[in-house]
Amino acid sequence: MSSNHQSGITAEASSDATFILLDAVPEKEAQLRQALAAFPELIRSIQQQFPDAQLHAAIGFSCHSFTRITEQSAPKELAPFPSFSGQYLSVTDAPYDILMHIRAHLHDATHILALSLFKALADTVTLREQTNGFKYLDNRDFTGFVDGTENPQGDERPAVALVGTEDPDFQGGSYLNYMKFVHDLEHWEHQALQTQEDTYGRTKYDNEEYPSAEKSPHAHTKRTSLKDEHGKSLEILRQSMPFGDLQQQGLVFVSYSKTPMIFDLMLKSMIEGDEQGRADHLMQYTHATSGSTFFVPTLSFLTQLA
Ligand code: HEM
Repeated sequence: MSSNHQSGITAEASSDATFILLDAVPEKEAQLRQALAAFPELIRSIQQQFPDAQLHAAIGFSCHSFTRITEQSAPKELAPFPSFSGQYLSVTDAPYDILMHIRAHLHDATHILALSLFKALADTVTLREQTNGFKYLDNRDFTGFVDGTENPQGDERPAVALVGTEDPDFQGGSYLNYMKFVHDLEHWEHQALQTQEDTYGRTKYDNEEYPSAEKSPHAHTKRTSLKDEHGKSLEILRQSMPFGDLQQQGLVFVSYSKTPMIFDLMLKSMIEGDEQGRADHLMQYTHATSGSTFFVPTLSFLTQLA
């Protein structure tokens, strides 16, 4: 089943990406389904033009559009992005219909695939937002810390990211959570190195994890390292990318998971904090007011939309 999943979900980190948010034009859904059904073949043909570019795509639908676009009942856990409110951050659902996450090691490959898919959708969609991301230094966020180190590796990636037999109709699909964070780098860069490292619970230059006992309850890696009732780590597969220009720098946070519940628990833990309300201090230096949840179905699900 796993070879049927959209390859952008589990592929290794890339050096270039684009995130495209779209709405489906009412009354044009039949035409949209035809275009989506041709996507797997179109993606394959452009991948063949760039055999060394590690070109990948993942296309997902939100709960606001899934049934209207696909004419099928939605995956079991597809719901709006959760609302949380805390000392440093309050977030709520931003209702977009479709997300296209396209990435490669070459910007021209990303661009050609993105443009080809967008053109194939023609007037069945409206473009709400596009954000281009790029690899910054050795996979660092703009705060200067390596991002993605503790991500699942190898066989763990599909195991964490893909729906299994718990929802057989959607096995091989994935829940995608999207947030766009804009950083306050002036504030961040005024902090001492020790404060920055304590904020993550990791060292900056050699990227080493603090021993657990030395992590502050406010540390980002403390607030996001969660366990289930059996003591097993709860994991998501992060595929975030820095974005920015001269005016704004931040992180497009994207994660894939077999259930959106794990992301929801992590975000709640970051924003509302632990049982004593100790929230994630990283949120003092960055800002996001909303997020969006999508379901990325298998390639064969797309093909049968015709
Ligand atoms: C870890 C950056 C938002 C979940 C990390 C690390 C960095 C980082 C640098 C440490 C290295 C690593 O393992 O990747 C950021 C930035 C964010 C952000 C800059 C936004 C401004 C989020 C959000 C979530 C999240 C919204 C989930 C709700 C995680 C998880 C880890 C992690 C699960 C691994 C923790 C561990 O096992 O040590 N993040 N992150 N992050 N982050 Fe974030």
